Amino acid sequence: MSTILVTGGCGYIGSHTITDLVENGYDVVCADNNMRSTTQLLDAVEKITGKKIPFVFTDLCKIEEVRALFAAHRFDGIIHFAALKSVDESVKDPALYFYNNLASQVNVLKCTEEFAVPFFVFSSSCSVYGNVSDLPVTEDTILAKAESPYGLTKQMGEQIIRNTSPASKTKFILLRYFNPAGAHPSGHIGEVPFGRPSNLVPAITQFAAGKIPALTVFGTDYDTRDGSCIRDFIHVSDIAHAHTMAFKFLTTVTDGHYCDVFNLGTGNGITVLETIQAFEKVSGLQLDYKTAGRREGDVVAVYASNEKAAKTLGWKPQYTIEDIMRTAWAWEQRMATQ
Ligand code: WQD
Repeated sequence: MSTILVTGGCGYIGSHTITDLVENGYDVVCADNNMRSTTQLLDAVEKITGKKIPFVFTDLCKIEEVRALFAAHRFDGIIHFAALKSVDESVKDPALYFYNNLASQVNVLKCTEEFAVPFFVFSSSCSVYGNVSDLPVTEDTILAKAESPYGLTKQMGEQIIRNTSPASKTKFILLRYFNPAGAHPSGHIGEVPFGRPSNLVPAITQFAAGKIPALTVFGTDYDTRDGSCIRDFIHVSDIAHAHTMAFKFLTTVTDGHYCDVFNLGTGNGITVLETIQAFEKVSGLQLDYKTAGRREGDVVAVYASNEKAAKTLGWKPQYTIEDIMRTAWAWEQRMATQ
């Protein structure tokens, strides 16, 4: 039985990925500092899988804590999710993002080498592309300037791994998530924003549930079909399953040194206004949103070609934007009753 360390496993994508890994026969250990999470989602994973997930409270920015974590277990693989991920917040506090996202990654990478862990999957992001005109983006698209410190931490994170790989026996995969959204079909886990949501889909569902006083569209004067930004919303369970498929693929790689990158998106770019309309269609509600100026750090448009992940990993998204809205809304309403 392979044991996978999932850092940041108490989070949104982490908890969904742990669910998928366990359902596919992996053992998992979750390490998290609960800076932006609690163990609520991890406890709920047990309801779905019937398995209690070992949890180690760890400050990954402290190398001695990371070393103790690795010394206490034999990991066959690592999925490194642990990072702050708000574009908006990173613009306001860049130093927090560079410290938290890079110190934790370097420590986990150092211990991966010291303990000779064979496989490492890195949580990257479509934010690495910046503002590129040639869409959809492929993994060969030349990266533009990162539009936010968050995006820059992911560009730097990828470069650190690319430059570690040639001297490492560990095999690496970088997964570039587009816009993760939605919730597990069981309704037991979903996105739990820390404070007021900065991401669009939870902002929509919280506004629809009356939890926040307004839904604001940031920017309606972009050079797009309706003036609002374009994104590629991908169901979180599709993202989760891609990690399981990435590990299965890594065990087949015979190259001495291996590091490759894959887009995880649907290939469908939709605008912010179209996203709101998709929610209205699924929920039957009419959202009286406001419009405001552009949000600093936003990319105008980004959506994926996912052909490489399909060809190499055998990964294909199973959920639609309607599934995203339906599961996100069901989760929001369930949280309202908890
Ligand atoms: C999307 C669009 C906003 C809120 C996210 C993650 C990041 C990465 C990429 C994985 C923008 C607009 C938003 C609101 C709005 N994913 N918006 N009103 O910035 O693309 O980044 O996906 O790593 O981690 O954060 O997502 O949902 O914040 O914004 O108009 O209340 O929706 O301006 O155009 P973003 P987002």
